[in-house]
Amino acid sequence: MKKDYSISVIGLGKLGLCAAACFADKGFKVIGVDIDINKINKINKGLSPVAETGLAGLIKKCRNNLKATPDYDLAVLNSSVTFIVVATPSLADGSFSNDYLEKALHKIGESLKKKKSYHLIVITSTVMPQTTETVARFILERASAKKAGRDFGVAYNPEFIALGSVIRDFLNPDFILIGEMNKRDGDILEGIYKKTCENNPRFARMTPLNAEIAKISLNCYITTKITFANSLASICDKVKNADASVITRALGLDSRIGSKYIRPGLGYGGPCFPRDNVAFAAFARKIEARAKLAEMVDEVNRDQALRVVNKIQDILAALHKNKKNAKIGILGLSYKQNTPIIDDSQALAIVQLLANEGYSLTVYDPQAMENARGVLGDTVRYAKNSGDCILGIDLGVIAVPWDEFRKINLKKLDKNVVLLDCWELLKGVKGINIKYLGVGY
Ligand SMILES: NC(=O)c1ccc[n+]([C@@H]2O[C@H](COP(=O)([O-])OP(=O)(O)OC[C@H]3O[C@@H](n4cnc5c(N)ncnc54)[C@H](O)[C@@H]3O)[C@@H](O)[C@H]2O)c1
Repeated sequence: MKKDYSISVIGLGKLGLCAAACFADKGFKVIGVDIDINKINKINKGLSPVAETGLAGLIKKCRNNLKATPDYDLAVLNSSVTFIVVATPSLADGSFSNDYLEKALHKIGESLKKKKSYHLIVITSTVMPQTTETVARFILERASAKKAGRDFGVAYNPEFIALGSVIRDFLNPDFILIGEMNKRDGDILEGIYKKTCENNPRFARMTPLNAEIAKISLNCYITTKITFANSLASICDKVKNADASVITRALGLDSRIGSKYIRPGLGYGGPCFPRDNVAFAAFARKIEARAKLAEMVDEVNRDQALRVVNKIQDILAALHKNKKNAKIGILGLSYKQNTPIIDDSQALAIVQLLANEGYSLTVYDPQAMENARGVLGDTVRYAKNSGDCILGIDLGVIAVPWDEFRKINLKKLDKNVVLLDCWELLKGVKGINIKYLGVGY
């Protein structure tokens, strides 16, 4: 197999299109495949059909190296490595669905049948353990009438990126996880990432099964850390003069713990993190084991929005306000900053819980207003900007740490107003009269 690989990417969504554009920008010839013709047309015009930081500029820049098509033959026959990045939505039992993946594998297998040279198929979609070497290998061998390991390779190579910083994360990973069935395939992938990444990352190479378990475990561990900080905060909330963020900052100084993802705030949300503990628990059940910690982390995280709502109600009670006369402004609705995505957003869950209780709410988010409107309807007032959101309020809540909320002018607020700053954006700001509170103190 020649060293100047050309790449095809199946599934040009939030992750796949960013990966395709990054590879193309680093000089690979990339052919992307999707079933969505609108996406294909946009990409071929040099436009981005996906809202992600820096993606529109990158697609314009790498236009000569990136083409999109619905044609699997075109993509597979004109590339030597195929990354599959289709969605693997969660099923009712928490495991990941293989529906899109299996369709893509079948099409790739049919194209492989027409090919003479070795081809590496890389699953980047998040899959349940045991998928690569059983389901994927079987479908590819059956559809291509060829043999894995001899005529083609199958590898698992997931990404650890966060929406809003997909391109930066893709180009600067802490490490690259490669699940390989043989050294040749792992070497090919290592070569591609050495040419693509900007930070000389470490490589963790192992069997596909270990990589599948490692991918889920990593997210389970991070979410456990987040949940630990939030559990601590829920205790500190009830202890006079205790401050969970002071405590977690100290814990983070210990090199065995580290300072990332250990701070009180809202629970984790979005389309990725909430799926992994549930999937891990489903995997454990399948093999007749129990992942009690993963189950508990998910349960505690689900309760986090309610805990914040209880705190809000306690604050309002202390102000002698109730659902009839309290005015609440919620700043932030997306599941995190720098994205319009509201899937499993804890900020949105807080708004919904309060709206269901009958509180009068004004909401604002720099990017997620349209998405939130689809869920919240007319149960809330939509502010024009952050200043408008806190006009005449009794209680303000910073629910998402958008940078622009750091510049909010609080000086005009009445001294009886309370600000619950879930992310400590404005802690220590001088010259404000209002009562300032955080999660965990
Ligand atoms: N988005 C993230 O932050 C993230 C992070 C890590 C891992 N992942 C994983 O990456 C995978 C993709 O996630 P995403 O967020 O990019 O999904 P997405 O829904 O944004 O994109 C999936 C794309 O695949 C296309 N598609 C579906 N079936 C297809 C087929 N048969 N052939 C070609 N294209 C097809 C869809 O049209 C869509 O454009 C998932 O398994 C996800 O768990 C995502």
